[in-house]
Amino acid sequence: MAAINPDPALIQLQGLDLLSSADLSADQTRALLQLAADLKARRLEINLAGKVLGLIFTKASTRTRVSFSVAMTRLGGQTLDLNPQVTQVGRGEPVADTARVLSRYVDALAIRTFAQTELEDYAHWATVPVINALTDLEHPCQALADYLTLQEAFGQVEGLTLAYVGDGNNVAHSLMLCGALLGVHVRIGCPLGFEPDGAVLEQSRALAAAHGGSVAVLHEPVAAVRSAHALYTDVWASMGQEEEKAERERAFAGWCLNEELVAEADPRAIVLHCLPAYRGLEISAGAIEGPSSRIFDQAENRLHAQQALLAALLGGI
Ligand code: CP
Ligand code: NVA
Repeated sequence: MAAINPDPALIQLQGLDLLSSADLSADQTRALLQLAADLKARRLEINLAGKVLGLIFTKASTRTRVSFSVAMTRLGGQTLDLNPQVTQVGRGEPVADTARVLSRYVDALAIRTFAQTELEDYAHWATVPVINALTDLEHPCQALADYLTLQEAFGQVEGLTLAYVGDGNNVAHSLMLCGALLGVHVRIGCPLGFEPDGAVLEQSRALAAAHGGSVAVLHEPVAAVRSAHALYTDVWASMGQEEEKAERERAFAGWCLNEELVAEADPRAIVLHCLPAYRGLEISAGAIEGPSSRIFDQAENRLHAQQALLAALLGGI
């Protein structure tokens, strides 16, 4: 096992929060992807013995919850499930109190909730790193795993085109910001009215301009995916939008990521989906199970990307 050769970009991350993909610099993002690849290949070992990560999840989760927990175990630390239903959070204890108290017990908090402002409140009051495990606005841990998967397929990501077709949601936002930092050309294809948030679009375009990438919004699926190196989609109705499901299914008719769309992409293109997926709605069963799919590698990469992130934030580098 190789000794760790500390990357200065990673050392700078110790003790910081990850609330948005844009909290990382381009160098830090690239260094995290490299560390994740090294951990996946078991080229190095990091020891976080005695460190505890608290999980506060207000929404359901399979991948994020389990991959954080396994990541801490593999690093020699442990996870505490602080489900709001079993803590005083569910009874309305203020974030300011909860965050300060938990900071006396745990070494970091991974939080999945609705409002980005609630996450920001936790980060304001906590004295330990706070990690965005998904909010309505962003999913930065997902984007790290996604670009790790693209990097594995093509050797590097700079200059590649990633086409996301579907709702301009949390997953799309983090793909835009993280892709912009990495010099990726990100295309968001969506029906009118389902564009990404305007402020995130502006921020990602500014980052793209500084790092050689681009961010475009298109309203036609074939134009969005043409010659792209990665095709990506996510659910049309995110958690918290259950009541809009039927209305959204009507609005997104014609936007299924299927074999016909895959045929319009670069012949080497990979198909990605953060999961969970609804076959026959945002993605066809054939696209999930077809030869271009890297969806289950992508899910595995959540574990490696989060191990890298935890190692950096918790001072394991
Ligand atoms: N992709 C993702 O975040 O999955 P979970 O909702 O299962 O965590
Ligand atoms: N956009 C989805 C992602 C789930 C991982 C949601 O927020 O529900």
